Formats: sequence, C-alpha cells, structure tokens
Amino acid sequence: MTTLDSQSDKTLCHLDKHSNTELNEIPSDCGLPAGISPLESRVAGHPSLDKERQTIGMLRRSDGRIFKPVVKPLLGKREISFYENLQISKNPILLQLKNYVPRYYGTTELQIFGRRVTFLTLKDITDGMAEPCMMDIKIGRRTWDPLATPEKRATEELKYAESKRTYGFCITGFQVYNVSSGQLKQFGKHYGKTLDAKGVVEALKIFLNISPERPPCRQLIVKLLSFLWKILLFFRAQRLFRFYSSSLLVAYDTKRLRHYLRLNERNSNGPGGQASESFTSANSRASTSGVFKHANDEASNSVPSGTSRNRTTERVHFVKRSFSLSNDCETSVKEKTLNRSGSCSPDFRVGGICRTHSYANNFDDDMIRMKEDYDELLHELTSSSEEKQNWVRINMIDFTHVFPAEDRNTLDLNYLEGIENLIKLVEMFLVSKDTTA
Ligand SMILES: Nc1ncnc2c1ncn2[C@@H]1O[C@H](COP(=O)(O)OP(=O)(O)OP(=O)(O)O)[C@@H](O)[C@H]1O
Ligand SMILES: [Mg+2]
Repeated sequence: MTTLDSQSDKTLCHLDKHSNTELNEIPSDCGLPAGISPLESRVAGHPSLDKERQTIGMLRRSDGRIFKPVVKPLLGKREISFYENLQISKNPILLQLKNYVPRYYGTTELQIFGRRVTFLTLKDITDGMAEPCMMDIKIGRRTWDPLATPEKRATEELKYAESKRTYGFCITGFQVYNVSSGQLKQFGKHYGKTLDAKGVVEALKIFLNISPERPPCRQLIVKLLSFLWKILLFFRAQRLFRFYSSSLLVAYDTKRLRHYLRLNERNSNGPGGQASESFTSANSRASTSGVFKHANDEASNSVPSGTSRNRTTERVHFVKRSFSLSNDCETSVKEKTLNRSGSCSPDFRVGGICRTHSYANNFDDDMIRMKEDYDELLHELTSSSEEKQNWVRINMIDFTHVFPAEDRNTLDLNYLEGIENLIKLVEMFLVSKDTTA
C-alpha cells in the first residue's frame, strides 16, 4: 500500500540524513510542485497518486526525471542503499551494472497530502519518446526474498503462477501505441495474472506490434536482444547479489517503429514500392466514389485524438488548405509512379484530373507519411548517434528485494532462468517471419 501513516513518517526522518537528499520548495496547498505530475506511463507496481485514498504514486517532472516514493521504509532504504552503492563503488561488476539501471539523482523530499515523503529520483527511461511503449517484466520464478514471512511467500507463489512456472518470469503490465492507429492501450497486472504460456507470447506480440499482417520489425527485435544479451552476460558473471522481484523495464517508441516498418515495406516492395502503393490506393478510392468534395472533410476522424499522429494530421490539414496540384506537378508524379512501379494504373489516370483535395480523393495518408519521413530524415541528419540508437531501451528496475548472495561461488540461477527464457522467446521473433501464425 502507498498510504502513508505516522509510522512511516518517523522512519522517513532516518532517510533525511542521506547525503544526496535535496529538500524541495513545498507548496502549502498540498498540491504537487510546479512541473510535477503523476507518472502516466506507469504500467505496474503500486497505485498512483490519489487524494481520496491518500495513496502516493510515482511522479514525473517535465525535465524527464521520475520520483519513486518510499512507501515501506525498510524496502525504500534498501533500494536507496543499492543505488547509492552503485554511485560510489569501483567494483567492476557494479560498474557494469550501472549501465543497465536508470540514472540515479539521489533522493528528493516532497510535501504531499500534508506529509513529507521521500522519493528516489531516477531518469525516466521513456524520456524523449513520442509514443512510448513500455512493459514491466518481473524476472525470476521465485519473487520472495530471504526475509519473507511464510504468508508473504505463499501469496507470492500464487501470483502469476503459470507464467513463472513456464518461463521463470511474468508480465506485470504494459502499454503500447498501435503502429497503425496510434491508439494507446494499457494492460494492467490483472491481465498479466491471467496469462498462461501461450498468453505470454501473445502479450509480447501485442507489445511489439506484431500481428498476422505485420511481421516482427527486425530492427526492434535486434535492439531488444542486444540489451538482453548484455544483461544476460552480466548475470553469467555476477555472484555478488540475488535479485528477487526485480524487473526488466522494456521501452520503445512507436513513432520510430512506424518509420522502420515503412522502410522495410518499401524495401520489400522493391524500389519505389511504397510510393506507387500509396498513390495508387489514394486514387483507387477516388475512382470508386467518383465524387469530389472539398477539403476539411471527415478524413481526420479516422485518426485517433491525443496522439502525435493527430498533431501531424492537424499540421497536414493546415498545409492541405492551400494544397492544389498543378498539371505539371501531377504529370511528373504520375510519370514517376509509372516508371517506378513498372505498371500503369488505370485508376490513376481517371483520378489524375482531380485537382482539389477531397474526402474521395484525399492525400491525407500520403501527406502524413511524407511528413513523417521528412521528420525522420531531419532526425537522422541532426541527432547524435546516441540519440538515434535510443528509440529502444531496457533497464533493470525495482531493487527493493536485492540481497547479497549467501554463496558467492554460485550464480543467480533464479534470474538467469527468467532472462534466458525471455531471450529465447524474443529470438523466435527474429528467426521466423511466420511466428504470428
Ligand atoms: N526509470 C523509470 N522510467 C520510467 N518508468 C519507470 C521507471 N521506473 C519505474 N517506472 C514505472 O513505474 C512502475 C513501477 O516501478 P517499480 O517497480 O520500481 O515500483 P513499485 O513496484 O511500485 O515499487 P516497489 O519497489 O515497492 O515494488 C514500472 O512498471 C514503470 O512503469
Ligand atoms: Mg515493481
């Protein structure tokens, strides 16, 4: 529970002494400080901020930092110590581990609902992503730590039992922006708990935007695997810790995925494949209807609201108002299409005389694609190579149940089993284009 009582307040005083603690200016109305809001992309874990229930959830600041509340003092203290150790240690294993966890900025104190709460301050791993998809995968068949009571152990054993038994990991929640519609879907822990062996694979497909019509995106899968392989290597070496109930937080940006899928589609269609497809389909619509209406029609309704795709549509609509193809321009586009595709579409010739953009003969989709391609091109040209790589990220999170290994001669087999099985599943998407069948 995230409800704070007076007991936890007392213990927070202990955390106040922490060297990295910074005390924020706290508004007197119990609201959140300027620029801080509940973390909307939270997919698992404790409840979100709720005044009525007095629950304190994860928060996010506009500069891309997130705030994880210390809810249970003992666990919070353990996690803070874990991050603090990572900051100062020169141990090669810990230096390696530092690469796989979110950047840590110390602790922060905020006054919320009249109480003083300590938060761990971490880098939001989705920072900079336009349409962030995120999945929380708890690794390990055993999720209870050595100090767990028999009752805690029993309840943990029952949670996500089937997927933990089959794979040694479980999916505790995820969110995904659909690559076609731009729609955001969130799947909470209740969904995760229902998943059996097959269901886990289905959930991974939904998360990775794989469907019978849309094969896995190779670039996405390879990037995910490169992170997972590195973390696997770390666990094949480290003998210092046991990571119980810790998660891999997997994130990628659907906006970039859309770009790669389009590139792949274009490549598989041969040179100019995508261009000819989009213009032909636009004009097929025109020829079947035969009605040419004026701009500002219902076309935008097909694009869901509140997404960057929608914002793009708005920008396209702006351009569209003054958009009218000249005969010269039409001819050159037509010739290009015919030459590239090597075939002549009769629909195109019928529709080609249309000069006004309309519902029946609209180029919204084409304009959106061109705009997005142009955005991507600009991004390619202007961003650093690190930023370019950064549309897929995996971090290890949640270290409230990390314990020193009792036997330093052995590996963390519990974690290893989970990550190895996860890798096997993700590798399946790499080898077979047909995995959705
Ligand atoms: N660095 C991060 N960047 C972006 N989102 C994060 C980050 N850390 C956590 N989250 C989000 O918050 C959720 C919960 O995080 P976490 O597992 O650390 O906390 P918890 O499970 O609520 O707390 P506890 O440590 O008490 O189990 C994650 O599933 C993820 O959605
Ligand atoms: Mg968690």
